[in-house]
Amino acid sequence: MEFHKVGAKPCSSYLFFAILLLFAFLASFADAAVHFHEFVIEAKPVKRLCRTHSTITVNGQFPGPTLEVRDGDTLVIKAINRARYNVTLHWHGVRQLRNPWADGPEFVTQCPIRPGQSYTYQFTIQNQQGTLWWHAHSKWLRATVYGALIIYPKLGSPYPFPMPKREIPILLGEWWDRNPMDVLRLALSTGAAPNISDALTINGQPGDLYRCSSKETAIFPVEVGETILLRIINSAMNEEMFFGVANHKLTVVAVDSAYTKPFATNVITIAPGQTTDVLLTADQTPAHYYMAAHAYNTANAPFDNTTTTAILEYKSAPFSAKKGQSLKPIFPQLPGFNDTATAIAFTAQLRSLSKAKVPLEIDESLFFTVGLGLINCTNPNSRRCQGPNGTRFAASINNVSFVFPRRNSLMQAYYQGQPGIFTTDFPPFPPVQYDYSGNVPRGLWQPVKATKLLKLKYRSKVQIVFQDTSIVTVEDHPMHLHGYQFYVVGSGFGNFDPKNDPAKFNLIDPPERNTIGTPPGGWVAIRFEADNPGIWLLHCHLDSHLPWGLATALLVENGVGKLQTVQPPPLDLPRC
Ligand code: C2O
Repeated sequence: MEFHKVGAKPCSSYLFFAILLLFAFLASFADAAVHFHEFVIEAKPVKRLCRTHSTITVNGQFPGPTLEVRDGDTLVIKAINRARYNVTLHWHGVRQLRNPWADGPEFVTQCPIRPGQSYTYQFTIQNQQGTLWWHAHSKWLRATVYGALIIYPKLGSPYPFPMPKREIPILLGEWWDRNPMDVLRLALSTGAAPNISDALTINGQPGDLYRCSSKETAIFPVEVGETILLRIINSAMNEEMFFGVANHKLTVVAVDSAYTKPFATNVITIAPGQTTDVLLTADQTPAHYYMAAHAYNTANAPFDNTTTTAILEYKSAPFSAKKGQSLKPIFPQLPGFNDTATAIAFTAQLRSLSKAKVPLEIDESLFFTVGLGLINCTNPNSRRCQGPNGTRFAASINNVSFVFPRRNSLMQAYYQGQPGIFTTDFPPFPPVQYDYSGNVPRGLWQPVKATKLLKLKYRSKVQIVFQDTSIVTVEDHPMHLHGYQFYVVGSGFGNFDPKNDPAKFNLIDPPERNTIGTPPGGWVAIRFEADNPGIWLLHCHLDSHLPWGLATALLVENGVGKLQTVQPPPLDLPRC
């Protein structure tokens, strides 16, 4: 900003200067606020499905607190660990420009916060609007440690759709009738798949269809004729879901904190890690309507096939849902558990609201096979080998099953120049070519365990094709990239065809996301510019697959000068 001297008299020019300064000061306040929070991670008794469990929560709340900010605001969150586990917090979808230190995945950008210790996450929201969320990024703590992160437009900027009368965060989750940390520990010791959950939840409540749950079913009141905004977040551990509201159309307006061209639908498909903002107009006969979600399952494996519900209650409805049990709410029609046609048709409708800045020339063209694997055991009768035919489950990208380091975090080792923690020879394409989605020879089922990262030049233009494999089972793997928003330019079934498929890419208005699933037995292509230096985890957001190694990390090099370089770590960054 420049100050020009006006008027001859020094005193008036000082006054003018002072007023200008005051305005600049006030304007900076109006533009961007700083939000301070304390997140105490602690065990609290939580009762679900007739039983009370000592549950890890934030500030005693399950789900955790909702954060509400505007684009451009800064968050300062002191995480205090009073639980008996190591913990970290991740702000899912926040770009964290040049600031990997606030990203949170344990042993990737930080060492865990030990019991009794604390760490302050400080970051600014830059050019993101809509719905994101936060969750623990340490073992299976995120089963109960999660909450919504709502980003409103800057003060004075409207939504690109009619202003809704009210806004409701809808957090879809999963509940185990036991300690989720024990579920993971058992799975990792036996090598078998972890137990499936006992309930799905909406805002932490299973709803009317489960034992001992009716009284606490979430109820959302609406006035006849008003339009509300549902901010739907799939915070479940392992289940993709279909979600719908009886008799009501949903108009999708945003996904993963980026606006979309609006379209109406009866049902949405949402994978763990994804968010979907929808408008709903209360234009039906005043009554009670269920909103419900159940699994969309693509793997040949057991899954939680129960249904979670909440109630949309017209205030003028003849009975209150609380007292009058006489009138059952109307139930929505959800697609079948394996209705891939409906899931794909939904995803195919997503388009960026405005013209997208998709990279057209690609510097790094990467082809990543993603899928499960099996580790053979020398003694298949061992208690540690209870996977299929005396093996242990694994998962990989390009046949590398990612091993998280323990002695230091990747980012700290990189920053300090400590050798021996990782290598940067992650393969840009699979080491062997085969019919990925077809009948894969047994000899190719066993991945190699390693901590390999993929190096990218600052500002390089990157394309990644994720190719699902049929090893053990085909499956929709929701791939999540930390520190970035990417464009989803294409997808299809079977094996990706590098000759003919790129011609069909949408390079005009593809949706911008942070998490996208591979169609089961198919592929999905994303593009982005590597404009955020640091180490960024790329992984499947199914929490059964992550500990099996369905991950890697991108090491994006610094550019030139301070504004293209990772900022120094905060002083209280935990050490390993
Ligand atoms: Cu939602 Cu690596 O996380």
